[in-house]
Parts: sequence; C-alpha cells; structure tokens
Amino acid sequence: MSTPTRKTPEQLRSWRWYGRDELRSFGHRSRAKQNGWGNEDIVGKPVIGILNTWSDLNSCHMHLRLTADAVKRGVFQAGGHPMEIPVMSVGEMLTKPTAMFHRNFLAMETEEMLRANPIDGAVLLGGCDKSTPGLLMGAFSMDIPVIYMPCGPMMKGNWRGDTLGSGSDVWKYWDEKRAGNLSWGEWCEIEDGIARSPGHCMTMGTASTLTALAETLGLVMPGASSIPAVDSAHTRMAAAAGRQIIENVWLDRKPSGIVTEKSFENAIAVDMALGGSTNAIVHLIAMAGRLGIPLPLEKFDEISRKVPLLANLRPAGKYLMEEFFLAGGLTALLNGMRELLHTDVAT
Ligand code: FES
Repeated sequence: MSTPTRKTPEQLRSWRWYGRDELRSFGHRSRAKQNGWGNEDIVGKPVIGILNTWSDLNSCHMHLRLTADAVKRGVFQAGGHPMEIPVMSVGEMLTKPTAMFHRNFLAMETEEMLRANPIDGAVLLGGCDKSTPGLLMGAFSMDIPVIYMPCGPMMKGNWRGDTLGSGSDVWKYWDEKRAGNLSWGEWCEIEDGIARSPGHCMTMGTASTLTALAETLGLVMPGASSIPAVDSAHTRMAAAAGRQIIENVWLDRKPSGIVTEKSFENAIAVDMALGGSTNAIVHLIAMAGRLGIPLPLEKFDEISRKVPLLANLRPAGKYLMEEFFLAGGLTALLNGMRELLHTDVAT
C-alpha cells in the first residue's frame, strides 16, 4: 500500500481565505481578528467547522453545545482551529406535520456552509431522525473530510419500575387509556418518565438506525453511535472526533474516498440485522445518490434475504439502546456478523 500524501499548509482550503497576500485575504484576516483570532490561530492550520444542530426546539439535541465544546477541545489538542456553526435543527418532537420536509433544507444548508466558508473539514453534530441524512447528504455533495458525531440515545424510560421505550409505548399506553385501563394521573406519570434525558429516541427507530448506519458507512468514530447521550464516553468520543478530523484533513480523507457501493451494502445488511427502521431505505438511497452510487430497491430485497435479525431491540425485540451499548453496541454486532459484511472497505 502506498503512503498517503499529506497536505501542506498552503494546500488547505482555508489558505485561500487566510493565507494569501491579496485584498480579500486582508478582509478575511482582519475579521478573524475582530473575532479575537490572530494569524497564529487561523493561518496554515486546519479550520474545522462544527456544524451544530442544537436548538431549544430540539430536545434530542439539548446537550450538543457541550458536545461541541468537547469537539473543540480535541481540535485544539491536534493543532487545528474550530469554528462552531449553527445549522437548522431538524427535530421530530414538535415539527408539524413532519421534519421530513426539512431534511433537504438541512442538506442544502450544510453544503453551502461548508462550501462558502474557510472550512477544511467538519464535525457534524446531529442524531434526531432526519438530521443524520440531512447533514450527511450535504457533506457528501461538498465532499470535504467530515466526521459525523451522533448525539447518542437518551436513557431508557421508566414508569413505576417498568421500562418505557420512545414511540412504541406511547401507542400502547394511549390504547390502554382509551380502553379505560389507565387513569389521567397514570398517563401523566408516563409522560414524566418516558423521556428522561438528552439524546435521541432510544428504541431502534429512525434515529438509532441512521446513526448506526452512518457508523457502518465509516463516517462515525468506531463505537460512537451506540453511546448514550449522558454517558461520559460521549464527551470523550466527541473530543476524539475533534482530534481525528485534523488527521483526516491533512490526509484528505473525503467521503468519496471512504464510502463506496460496498459500504452501502454493509449499511443495508446492518439495517436488517438491527431490525432497523424502514425509513432507512428512503435515506440511504438519497445519501447514495449524492455520491453518484445507484441503490435500487432490489438490492434491499436481495440483502434482506441473506441477513437474519440479530439484535433484540425494540420495537422488533425487547431491549433499548442503553442495554445495546452495555452489551457491546454496534461494534459487537458488526463483529458478530463479520461474514455477512464486506470487510475491505475504508472506515
Ligand atoms: Fe428525536 Fe425521536 S424525536 S429521535
């Protein structure tokens, strides 16, 4: 294998803004100084965009400002310069009729924020359903080095000692209430206990599925998608992502050099093994399209006939993401289904 070529500082994208002796660069540097950043902060160093989907409208992402701080710490440790950039927060908990209508807005915003600004690489912070495909679609179109840092699942719900899962238990207990088997007071207790912490839905719904598939595609730090939002491992992993993106920039590791047709076949296989969301089909096809990779429906059918359901996770099974993490998470699942995967793809 040939040794990968490292970029020189003059080959960084951000050099076109900050490094040149020209009128426009005077403007860019003087405005960086307005921000309190000297030339030693920004010239010839990888500038890392931290695209943050934090919003008070999105309770799944309520901790992402702290996650962004950890990513910044990692970027500084590795000799880069972080810039936190707010982007549209695509959340499912309030948006009517569905955040699906906003996925492509986020993709456009992601692509334009990365394209129009002095960004050499990016760490993308998301997790709630459509935020994962939205951020990745934009990043694929732009095709600069990126790492996706999922917000992590929330803690499992609890009602009088019984476990509650996002989504599925809402329908179950709503029917119990309609049948007259649950009082208003009990219904309110369930409301208090079903979403106990930051993080995305903790069943194997769309969010847990898409973050796991992003990791399978090779765009997430190994193991990161299974870590609960409030576990301290999440913060440590965010700092690690900040360090790793610097190396990815110097080596010019772009999505087009990592994600191939085989990577998508792996993602489909993992979706089947996890009992993941059927929404993954819509999003994987859209993501693959951004990289010019055809993903016909027949491929999903073909792979589904070879891959058994392996994970015992709600709604198809019994457990929730917290238990999946403690049982080894996606890393353990990938290892257990090794013979069903292409193992010669980059991650
Ligand atoms: Fe955010 Fe379910 S509402 S993942």
